[in-house]
Amino acid sequence: MTAPIISIQQVSKMFAKQPVLDQISLDVQKGEIIAILGKSGCGKSTLLNLIGGFEQPSSGQVLLDDEIVMKASKRCIMLMQNYGLLPWRSVQKNVELALEGTGLTKIERQRRAQHYLKLVGLENRLSALPSELSGGMQQRVAIARALAIQPEVILMDEPFAALDTFTRYYLQDELLAIQKEEKTTILLVTHDIDEAIYLADRIFIMSPNPGRIHRELLIRSTKPRDRSDSDFQHFREIIFNEFQFTHPQNAVEYNI
Ligand SMILES: Nc1ncnc2c1ncn2[C@@H]1O[C@H](COP(=O)(O)OP(=O)(O)OP(=O)(O)O)[C@@H](O)[C@H]1O
Ligand SMILES: [Mg+2]
Repeated sequence: MTAPIISIQQVSKMFAKQPVLDQISLDVQKGEIIAILGKSGCGKSTLLNLIGGFEQPSSGQVLLDDEIVMKASKRCIMLMQNYGLLPWRSVQKNVELALEGTGLTKIERQRRAQHYLKLVGLENRLSALPSELSGGMQQRVAIARALAIQPEVILMDEPFAALDTFTRYYLQDELLAIQKEEKTTILLVTHDIDEAIYLADRIFIMSPNPGRIHRELLIRSTKPRDRSDSDFQHFREIIFNEFQFTHPQNAVEYNI
């Protein structure tokens, strides 16, 4: 096995003397899609923030390509849940702006922005303002912007949570197609169990107070996966059992 692109080594994090993450260790290989599942408050966003360099661990370390992550960089991009689009800029300009300071010429920035906006099916909305788009389209602009930077790693914190089921399915397929082409490494936090099984090569289930890796699931079936086949049901059952969904008296415990 080659060296991991991300190596999380015995990472713990305290906030106001409270342990939030405890001794998290995991490696991610280049081109993998990793999903992180866990109850609200178990530290999933905190973990992504540590990987992205937005927070520092209280102990342990995060390595990106063998280098300790000390600050945020364009090699590892966070896809924000609220899209983070500038409302007064057009769709195309929003993507181009993310490419400033990368050494590309203006023409190159324009071409690259258009290329990724086409990939997410927005080539006809380049001059629209974000407010003129649906929520799903705004999310696609945010995805195009993250991809246009051509990061090695994309961190996604519940990227499709605000979308209806059909838009979500559509974007999940788009993400898989683009990821296959670009070999981007993706870490995805989600509350959606099916989304995790549909997209991920490995799923990490976290337990809370303090956040720990409780279980790792390896999903080998080829993509795109069939949400109705027996493999899919098998993983759904394992995960539901982990969250004790199958025992009605405990069902309320999982606060989605
Ligand atoms: N900057 C901060 N300062 C103090 N406490 C924080 C900070 N960020 C997170 N926490 C605490 O750390 C714990 C984990 O928070 P985190 O946002 O990582 O959870 P999460 O698993 O992403 O939850 P959710 O599924 O609701 O998004 C929570 O108890 C939260 O209150
Ligand atoms: Mg969170």
